[in-house]
Amino acid sequence: MPFVTDDPNMLDDWLVVGPASALAGRSQRQPYGTCLLGATLSLWAEADGTPQCRLGTQPLSVQSRHGYLWVCPSGRPARPLFEFPEYTEPGRRLVDCGGIGVAVSGLRVIENFLDMAHFPFVHADYLGKVPHTEVARYEVAIEPATGEIWATDCRFWQPRASAAHDSGADVRYTYRVMQPFSAMLYKSSLRPEARDAIGLFLQPLDDEHVIAHTVLAYFDDVSSDAELIAFQHTIFGQDKPILENHAFKRMPLEGRAETPTRGDTTSVTYRRWLRERGMRFGTRAAT
Ligand SMILES: [Fe+2]
Repeated sequence: MPFVTDDPNMLDDWLVVGPASALAGRSQRQPYGTCLLGATLSLWAEADGTPQCRLGTQPLSVQSRHGYLWVCPSGRPARPLFEFPEYTEPGRRLVDCGGIGVAVSGLRVIENFLDMAHFPFVHADYLGKVPHTEVARYEVAIEPATGEIWATDCRFWQPRASAAHDSGADVRYTYRVMQPFSAMLYKSSLRPEARDAIGLFLQPLDDEHVIAHTVLAYFDDVSSDAELIAFQHTIFGQDKPILENHAFKRMPLEGRAETPTRGDTTSVTYRRWLRERGMRFGTRAAT
């Protein structure tokens, strides 16, 4: 077993290993090297663009989709890769914000991404501001066809919701969890009828380290790529030290260690969803 886990939730799924652009100029002789679940992978593209992946001399299943490379460690994916229709929707800007290393369980990174209650405190003057601390009631459901978590009708007052905003707005959110390590956020855009999309895809290095890949599919035709990336990095830079300073890097799925509040409805659903699938990777036993 070359990987640091035997959890089928990881081995039998499609896991991100970097942006598709990482293969530019690469070949079997000079591959793109990266880490997945403690193993070092080599990737390149054939002349026709077909991606290839090797662990040592062993071929692994790989596909290039949604602008990223996805590897199934076992070669027996339990389900197809999730859909991301906004990625190919005409009129959207696609911006790869790069990968940022975070020294904590990916489950904590996703849970933090789903949490609106921290906005006024961690992202003051951007995504929230005291005294606008209330998380209004919203709906959370598991979509039967895909098994994805959807949190809808979320609203939050934000001083500066994105790079293109220069004043406060009551921003509407929809959250979606596709995989234990992948989530999307849809939020009010510059077009009243459309939502911007943010994808957060976590590359698991081991139980306590990930590379967080962020992609934007925006209707913003005001901001430059550099402005959009800088805004995301500012927000992520506020989350990263808090994530890395958790007393326990792995996430407890049982017990009363972290008491839920109403704002945590999505978090409670996410933890139950992980428990029901028997998630072990990135978790810790209850104390
Ligand atoms: Fe945050």
